[in-house]
Amino acid sequence: MNFHVMTLFPEQISGFLGESITGRAQANGLIQLHTYDIRDFTLDKHGKTDDYPYGGGSGMLMQVQPIYDCYRYVKRHIPDDSKVRALYMSPKGRKFDQKMAEELSTLDDIIFLCGHYEGVDERALELTGCEPVSIGDYVLTGGEMPAVVIIDAVSRLIPGVLHGEDSSEIETFHDGLLEYPQYSRPEVFEGLKVPEILLSGNHGKVDEWRRQQSIKKTLELRPDLIDESRLSKKELKYLRSLDINTES
Ligand code: ADE
Repeated sequence: MNFHVMTLFPEQISGFLGESITGRAQANGLIQLHTYDIRDFTLDKHGKTDDYPYGGGSGMLMQVQPIYDCYRYVKRHIPDDSKVRALYMSPKGRKFDQKMAEELSTLDDIIFLCGHYEGVDERALELTGCEPVSIGDYVLTGGEMPAVVIIDAVSRLIPGVLHGEDSSEIETFHDGLLEYPQYSRPEVFEGLKVPEILLSGNHGKVDEWRRQQSIKKTLELRPDLIDESRLSKKELKYLRSLDINTES
């Protein structure tokens, strides 16, 4: 998988993704990260990449020319038969979620456009076909962190990126529930004991307990995620037995 990031701050991208699991995935050739400094493409002799919006209004816009020329340069490095999508990081976009991460993980190349200031000239989106994508309903100072978030979430779905250390199979969101609580050594810490069932060695009981804990946690924290059609009769009964106030 090739990630191509068009940005004014390439180090923000390469710094974060160069560490830990995504750093190892790059070293192993499972993902390739290419950053492109949009400023390198401006024709302005002072290196300017932003300007005032026509019609007035606050703030500056990223100009179309450097973005478009950068995009054409990126495209030259992507084969014609590649499965590719171009995304524009913006709070005004489609909301990114685990399902979209799964969709994106089947591509060969993903191009990211990171906005700054008050956004980009609309023609940059028309000319590049970038789809606006938001990582949540809040406004950040730029699109770099959102791009990193998406690259991280997509990378961990690529076979081989997560060795044995973290399974993407039995985890939060995979089956529509939040993950159950986990414990490691010591057995007692500050008077808090690991639940007895986890020490019992009875795998059937452990699985049942974990599933119930997932249901309970989801009901407490994300009741919107509960899909009763995905629960067994026994689990539905357990759900109904919980007395949790989900009003917020
Ligand atoms: N740029 C600024 N805020 C953003 C957000 N929430 N998602 C994606 N890009 C952004």
